[in-house]
Amino acid sequence: MAQAASDAQARSLVSFSKVTCGYKKKIVFQNLSLKLFPRQFAGLVGPSGAGKSTLLKSILGITPVLSGSISVAGKTINGRAPDEVGYVPQIETVDWDFPVTVEQVVAMGLYRKSTRLPWLTREERRIIRELLNQLNIGHYADRQIKMLSGGEQQRVFLARALVSNPRLLILDEPTSGVDVKTQHAILHLLGELNRKGVTILLTTHDLNAVARHLPWVICFNQKIVAQGDPDEVFTSKVLSQTYESEMSVIRQGDVMMVDDSPHAGHHFEKHRHEKQKTQDSGVHRH
Ligand SMILES: Nc1ncnc2c1ncn2[C@@H]1O[C@H](COP(=O)(O)OP(=O)(O)OP(=O)(O)O)[C@@H](O)[C@H]1O
Ligand SMILES: [Mg+2]
Repeated sequence: MAQAASDAQARSLVSFSKVTCGYKKKIVFQNLSLKLFPRQFAGLVGPSGAGKSTLLKSILGITPVLSGSISVAGKTINGRAPDEVGYVPQIETVDWDFPVTVEQVVAMGLYRKSTRLPWLTREERRIIRELLNQLNIGHYADRQIKMLSGGEQQRVFLARALVSNPRLLILDEPTSGVDVKTQHAILHLLGELNRKGVTILLTTHDLNAVARHLPWVICFNQKIVAQGDPDEVFTSKVLSQTYESEMSVIRQGDVMMVDDSPHAGHHFEKHRHEKQKTQDSGVHRH
């Protein structure tokens, strides 16, 4: 039994063992146990304030672990971002007054690995340009980051996270504030990276995009409510419990839609009752 547990530990890329995390005056989650396996592509969903960003930042050594332990690739996190992790922060939390160009932001993804002064070699510059081109923002390399749109900034941060070839990519709301086309492009790119072997954990508020693009979801609200294939996990019951608000899931063939409008459940119920009534009256007539 103990052997089986330690084998599972060895196989997992990220492992939370009874972790309690929080800030000075607030515990955000307690006794959390969670594993991410190599090549997993998982979406962390839950309401505002659920602790999603806190969870991501705890893997990076940014939020302090009050008790328990987190390990990445078998090494315990101790206040320092592990080398094998790339991170894309929640874009609204970034201070845009800092005067840096797109290329400089992406280059920051390389500095952590070296102790030398932050000048780029020709090869590094070539790699950065290639990555920016791949993300369709190559022509912005010399522009100040604050002069880009939200979706473009999002891609610059994605490039910064990817430039060091991470094994694990952590993204905090990578699709927020971007149009539908960019959203699909980002999720498509992440899918490709995942197929190449990168393990991905992201947060989002777009449940329908998660259901369409991701093989695994974790419903989180200070604790894990449920996790698994979105087809199985996204039920009205699980989502209503996660969001502490009534939500409906409508399925038609292979397509699934989450209705998260206020009182979604009521609309759905009403609709069903009306349909039922018509059917019932049909029965009565006969
Ligand atoms: N630096 C901080 N200091 C103190 N409290 C914080 C800090 N960061 C977050 N919190 C609190 O911790 C809780 C969890 O916040 P967190 O940012 O992890 O939520 P979230 O699930 O990412 O929400 P959102 O979907 O809005 O991004 C919230 O109650 C928040 O107010
Ligand atoms: Mg957040």
